[in-house]
Amino acid sequence: MYVWFASLLAGLVLLLLPAVRRTYFPHLFQDARYIAKAAWFGLRLARYRTRRPFYSLLERFTDAARTHPNKPFIHFEGATYTYLEVDRLSNRVANALRTCGGVTQGDTVALFLANEPCFVWTWLGLAKLGCAAALLNCNIRSRSLLHCFSCCGAKVIIAAAELRDAVQEVLPALRQQSISVYILSDGGHGDGILPLSGEISRASDEAPPASLRAKVTMKSVALYIYTSGTTGLPKAALVTQERVWAASFIQSMSGVTSQDVFYINLPLYHSAGFLIGLTGSIERGGTVVLKRKFSASQFWDDCRKYNVTVTQYIGETLRYLCNTPKVRGNEKEHSVRIAIGNGVRTEVWTEFLKRFGNISVRELYAATEGNVGFINYTDRVGVVGRVNFLHSRMFPYALIKFDTEKEEPVRNSLGLCVKAAKGETGLLVGKITKRSPFVGYAGNKQQTEKKRLCDVFVKGDLYFDSGDLLRIDQDNFVYFLDRVGDTFRWKGENVATTEVSDILAMVDSIEEANVYGVTVEGHEGRIGMAAVTLRDGKTFDCVGTYSHLANYLPPYARPHFIRIQSSLEVTGTFKMKKVKLVEEGFNPGIVQDCLYFLDLGAKNFVPLTEELYEAIVSRQIKL
Ligand SMILES: *[C@@H]1O[C@H](CO)[C@@H](O)[C@H](O)[C@H]1NC(C)=O
Ligand SMILES: *[C@@H]1O[C@H](CO)[C@@H](O)[C@H](O)[C@H]1NC(C)=O
Ligand SMILES: *[C@@H]1O[C@H](CO)[C@@H](O)[C@H](O)[C@H]1NC(C)=O
Repeated sequence: MYVWFASLLAGLVLLLLPAVRRTYFPHLFQDARYIAKAAWFGLRLARYRTRRPFYSLLERFTDAARTHPNKPFIHFEGATYTYLEVDRLSNRVANALRTCGGVTQGDTVALFLANEPCFVWTWLGLAKLGCAAALLNCNIRSRSLLHCFSCCGAKVIIAAAELRDAVQEVLPALRQQSISVYILSDGGHGDGILPLSGEISRASDEAPPASLRAKVTMKSVALYIYTSGTTGLPKAALVTQERVWAASFIQSMSGVTSQDVFYINLPLYHSAGFLIGLTGSIERGGTVVLKRKFSASQFWDDCRKYNVTVTQYIGETLRYLCNTPKVRGNEKEHSVRIAIGNGVRTEVWTEFLKRFGNISVRELYAATEGNVGFINYTDRVGVVGRVNFLHSRMFPYALIKFDTEKEEPVRNSLGLCVKAAKGETGLLVGKITKRSPFVGYAGNKQQTEKKRLCDVFVKGDLYFDSGDLLRIDQDNFVYFLDRVGDTFRWKGENVATTEVSDILAMVDSIEEANVYGVTVEGHEGRIGMAAVTLRDGKTFDCVGTYSHLANYLPPYARPHFIRIQSSLEVTGTFKMKKVKLVEEGFNPGIVQDCLYFLDLGAKNFVPLTEELYEAIVSRQIKL
């Protein structure tokens, strides 16, 4: 009682004395607003959990289709689909699959589709049957495709017509496992791939009875989403109904309303596009503009054409936008007011605002399978969030000291991890509790175990290893620094590769840079190397690049080898591929591309010849 009274009094003092507040608690209102919002979402989630039958996001959608049937739900390449139309189409899908496919509650169905409107109603149709959907990356093929398909335990796959060849390639293996293979086209070819479009258009558009999904609860798996590793095969993260709800709140949390038009330009098979974009818009009852593929040159035209008010991004896409040539006219003329996403670097963030105007960037930190997340709810550029009393109570997490060389947490003499100090970079770990569970990956015990970290602060405790390096500053702002593995260590110093690429990309002749560390015989750690692409018609500017790097980067962070490529390989989410580059290293006998070497004596980049290479590996040249 006394404690409550004291805190009430303290609260009043803070409210009444703005000077005290500004000095000692400059973010009090923002923190309080965030806490209030978070608490409200917590309550809503609790209400849905106890409602019988369970109120899923699907029910939210069907409610929306009842309350505003004629509101546009999806704009796609000039076509518009209203809530009612999408609802009816999803009924058809459900009825078709039920009668001809025998799909029932509890089944998992894999979707192998690109970003197109039928992705949405096919998924809604599956949800109406109480099925989980595995969202296969439409760029994967053969072994990887089979792996992803198999690990979610699906018995049915639905593929887009244009992906027929990819399906055909793995058909023998699928048939061996008696998988039903459907394709969204009319004609069959008698090869065991069943056309589904005719069945769907013939099926009834009446809603299938809700009893068909009566067993779905908050804990049921709703989706399998594959996390795109830069190494190895993708892992299928289990996304429960609860997770779907929680992720769908991000839009609302960021200030998006039902009047907003949300631009989905990232793949629907990933969480950013599907959870934040699609399910978030369903939760809001808003309109989405769906893009087949992100295009920097069409971005603002799309925004103007469809009156987009909210967009999503990843760091790379904002960078692409900033790299587009300046156009005549006012680049600030558009209605985009909010951008939600993650991974943007401070420089790009600043440049983006300067060029494209007053847009609230809601930078957030979250992983599909993770159990802790942050969102920037203050006005500080470059941060992903703030340490907040309630948040850390509800979802205990910590930053722990990390050895980037061994790529594992530092442990003390007792075998326990060590908290990183304020201002120090650390590995983010989230305590695994009932409220913040880590469900793991489907059919992959080993990977699941790898992400569980035991004996963190006391023997026997259990944390989720995010694999991300973050920093918390003196004012409790949280900064995202890197993924583990996106750093290298040279001369005893850790170098974040993204930082170096940002600096390189400022060089006039360089379009894009992919930075990584390579080993050199006889040396500890890894030395910096960069694969770069050049701007149209430009050649590599040896002197200019050298002096630019010398100006901006400490010696240990400078890339000593430059590899000129015509394009940089990226994953489906625009992450740069590095593993192959790291393996190939800087041996001109292996690498076909033009190579340059940072010559300290000459203060210049020089072509890397065989002789020079020999001199480096035999240590005649000092690095
Ligand atoms: C965008 O807004 C303008 C002006 O309010 C309106 O005329 C136009 O129809 C809107 N476009 C779409 C696609 O909603
Ligand atoms: C930026 O937008 C916010 C609301 O979105 C508004 O409150 C603010 O005044 C705007 N600032 C400028 C400089 O236009
Ligand atoms: C997040 O950071 C940006 C800085 O660009 C700021 O404009 C925005 O208001 C911040 N806060 C929220 C809640 O988005």
